[in-house]
Amino acid sequence: HGQLDPFPRNFLWGAASAAYQIEGGWDAEGKGPSIWDQFTKIPGKTFEGTNGDVAVDHYHRYKEDVALMAEMGLKAYRFSVAWSRILPEGAGEVNEAGLQFYENLIDELRAHQIEPVLTLYHWDIPQALQDKYNGWESRKAIDDFDHYARILFDRFKDKVKYWVSFNEQNVFTALGYRWQAHPPNVSDVKRMFEANHIINLANAKAIQSFRELVPNGQIGPSFGYGPMYSFDCAPDNVLAALNGEEFQNHWWLDVYVHGKYPKVTFKQLDRLGIAPTIEASDEVLLQAARPDFLGVNYYHGGTVRANEIECPIQENEQELEKDFQATDPYLMKPKDEQAQTPETSMFTSVSNPHLETTKWGWEIDPVGIRIALRRLQNRYDLPMMVTENGLGAYDELKADKTIDDDYRIQYLKDHVVELQKAITDGVELIGYCAWSFTDLLSWLNGYQKRYGFVYIDRDEKDEQELERIPKKSYYWYKEVIETNGSDL
Ligand code: BG6
Repeated sequence: HGQLDPFPRNFLWGAASAAYQIEGGWDAEGKGPSIWDQFTKIPGKTFEGTNGDVAVDHYHRYKEDVALMAEMGLKAYRFSVAWSRILPEGAGEVNEAGLQFYENLIDELRAHQIEPVLTLYHWDIPQALQDKYNGWESRKAIDDFDHYARILFDRFKDKVKYWVSFNEQNVFTALGYRWQAHPPNVSDVKRMFEANHIINLANAKAIQSFRELVPNGQIGPSFGYGPMYSFDCAPDNVLAALNGEEFQNHWWLDVYVHGKYPKVTFKQLDRLGIAPTIEASDEVLLQAARPDFLGVNYYHGGTVRANEIECPIQENEQELEKDFQATDPYLMKPKDEQAQTPETSMFTSVSNPHLETTKWGWEIDPVGIRIALRRLQNRYDLPMMVTENGLGAYDELKADKTIDDDYRIQYLKDHVVELQKAITDGVELIGYCAWSFTDLLSWLNGYQKRYGFVYIDRDEKDEQELERIPKKSYYWYKEVIETNGSDL
């Protein structure tokens, strides 16, 4: 790699997780239920009816997990706080035991020189607020979220430097309100755009509070970014890719960074009568909340063509595992092809004939991460942290208790090489948090779709002892960190 720039000296080599996916202890020490505690109990919603009641029991085993992080040499650990642990009712009384749990975790991380990266919201609004006023569909949620965020800012301002406001707002609004795949289990695109706007305001308000309470910290959203490609160089298709990029990505990112919705998509939504309701003071608030950095969650992008053009390629439908559950808005398509959707006349998604996919239908595209970072640097010009990237795969625990996940090593390595190229290009990248540190609950896919560096010995039916076993990729990443990526 003679011509490549080295990774920066303080590069944050990290790993990531989310509360509901790892903690368990769903009602421990005063925690209230979140919308996920309720949703996963609805029959037929998740693979084999799995839920996060126990998950990988990180709530009780965080010390063991942090010890494994320390042993690996991890520089940063991204986790999320469960709002309903701090405020069981979403608002009102603070549950000190919940705050104490995160304080202990943060102290443990810091004692091992691991930089905590704290996510305020990874999809788990308290059920109490869902019941009280429909959660994110009410503007009341803006103040309640701010109140929650301020409690954390106050308590951890001297211990946590990097904060993520919302995780993948694009994903949880689409899956929750449009595709009826996540809580609150709604399929109404108008409601999606309304809720999404309210979340934008909540994000902005919390960032304003952050400026006041944590002047030396850094905050930004983590966006699920997939670069849009044109199927080919037919100008109509290139235009469709522009539309796709705007509809799938800029729709959120422009608001985060510039406080404004992009015009083409807004007009399209307006024509369909599904544009969000914007009040007079909204723009002022949105524009006063520029983030310090962008968190980028990258798994794959999307390829599109113009709707009007007869596509000469076959749609290359993948043979998917029978238990496949679409968990990604990029893979969702309106069921009724005749229906007017926001995408109508903007673009049609197609498979990319150049890319292979995982067993769950996600394209594997390492160059896409470089394209992603380049596009984001050019358009938004903020420092970035990759806050998620990883491979969901079946892993085999062998009789000698080892896991040879060479495919994961290959996947991660290919992406990390592209990061180095992006840095060499001039992209300002401060860290990389692989998804995930331990195996965890894959929301709808149970425990079989594994992402971790550390295997957790449990499956859908049996929690077993929840033993932690480092995989081959764990030792690989340890070396990457030790050598600061100089020997990929
Ligand atoms: C991201 C989420 O969308 O992708 C994670 O932020 C999630 O929480 C990850 O686990 C992988 O998705 P899945 O559906 O394969 O678990």
